[in-house]
Amino acid sequence: MGFVVAIDGPAASGKGTIAVRLGRALGLPVLDTGLLYRAVGVLVLRAGRDPDDEVAALAAANTIDSAILEDLDLRTDAAAEAASRIAVHVSVRKALLAYQRAFAAREPGAILDGRDIGSVVAPRAAAKLFVTASAEARARRRWAELAARGDKVSYEETLVDIRRRDDRDQGRAAAPMSVAADAVLLDTTDLSIDRAFDAARRIVEAARARWEQSRTA
Ligand code: DC
Repeated sequence: MGFVVAIDGPAASGKGTIAVRLGRALGLPVLDTGLLYRAVGVLVLRAGRDPDDEVAALAAANTIDSAILEDLDLRTDAAAEAASRIAVHVSVRKALLAYQRAFAAREPGAILDGRDIGSVVAPRAAAKLFVTASAEARARRRWAELAARGDKVSYEETLVDIRRRDDRDQGRAAAPMSVAADAVLLDTTDLSIDRAFDAARRIVEAARARWEQSRTA
């Protein structure tokens, strides 16, 4: 197994940006696993079905491949909402596991970000980070992003949205978002993205040094 970095955390914590920058710094491929769940959500909506319908969601999950991830409009709030609803289905999570594990098995390593990477997808990852921030800080970031895109949503609505998704991601029975026992917690509430990335990089480089040592020992 190569050097695997597992990055988990709630929406708008900064984990996606950190994962992409780490990928560039370390020369490793990055998989944003949220995109898999978003793709299933979008396919279910397009088929005119309900994301709460497990059978419809599983049928969509079985068609997911890397081409679909490029193809669909996955960055919308409708996609995020549908994703967090299909993510509660055990069979759907299982169907998406093989894709994620195959990605994690790539040489010389890989970076995956999501909600259950350190706990379920790659429990043996050499580096595990849990990136978080207060709900208010995350709502502010998300809201600024939406406003820049010309979206007229209010900060209050964005906060309600973030809290609803947190509750769903934490409260579901199947692989709820959790901090793996061996994950390093990185709270970005008061950090700029540059400082958050620097902190993440230090943690991951220390883990890489330990990982290299254990391979030559
Ligand atoms: O990170 P994101 O906002 O793109 O994720 C969208 C939804 O997908 C999120 O509400 C929970 C779900 N998800 C998950 O359950 N497990 C993952 N590894 C990644 C995302």
